[in-house]
Amino acid sequence: MDAAPLRYSCFAIALHWVMALAFLLMLASGLVMANLDIPKSLQFQIYQWHKSLGVLLLLAFFLRLAVRLRARVPELPVRMKPFEKKAAKAGHFALYVWMIALPLTGWLVVSASPFGLPTIVFGWFEWPHIPDLAGNEPVSEFAETAHQWLAYAFIALIAGHVAAVVKHYLIDKENLLPRMGIGRAKGE
Ligand code: HEM
Ligand code: HEM
Repeated sequence: MDAAPLRYSCFAIALHWVMALAFLLMLASGLVMANLDIPKSLQFQIYQWHKSLGVLLLLAFFLRLAVRLRARVPELPVRMKPFEKKAAKAGHFALYVWMIALPLTGWLVVSASPFGLPTIVFGWFEWPHIPDLAGNEPVSEFAETAHQWLAYAFIALIAGHVAAVVKHYLIDKENLLPRMGIGRAKGE
């Protein structure tokens, strides 16, 4: 068998960074539209934008999962201790769980909402609601709370993810960014 690659595949790298940017925009737009006192028309526009990008991220997740399961990934650095390897794998797994749980609960929020507003993805196509949920109060309350708390926990997960990369760079003198396409990997 060939040696394991030094970095993720080009496609996986592109997906990682495009989706990372998109998730950060989702967090920012969600926090602004749900918590700031902004004009109603602007709030409405941000809601439409948030729902549209969220639906695209829901679809992108399956592409990302397929790429992750099919392509070979670089092995974790040999100097990493076994518990660090376990923590890295668990952290990446959790990021995947959050990347699907957030859009699914968002979809549940709009499907169970008493307003029944359609989700038109960037004015391009209509994304259907989950059937038979419109106006269902218990589901609506559950979905809103779950979506909100998942989003807050996601911020903590992302912060931990970035902190791990920084810790490897500063303390272990190991730059992981080339593995995700930024700069050159050792031995390239
Ligand atoms: C904002 C949302 C982000 C998400 C959801 C995310 C998710 C992930 C996931 C799941 C992996 C594992 C590789 C895979 O299976 O695809 C990964 C790897 C990686 N991410 Fe992120 N990431 C995010 C942001 C960032 C940021 C801001 C940085 C900058 C420091 C970063 C740097 C890396 C690096 C260097 C790796 C490779 C780790 C390794 O050596 O294996 N990520 N990311
Ligand atoms: C893809 C990842 C997503 C992220 C990171 C995200 C993030 C957020 C955040 C941070 C909030 C504000 C929570 C608060 O402070 O109350 C929010 C609210 C909301 N999100 Fe998302 N969201 C995502 C996907 C979606 C999707 C796919 C939809 C619908 C199709 C959606 C619909 C909503 C709605 C309707 C609210 C307002 C809920 C309320 O008024 O309590 N979100 N989202």
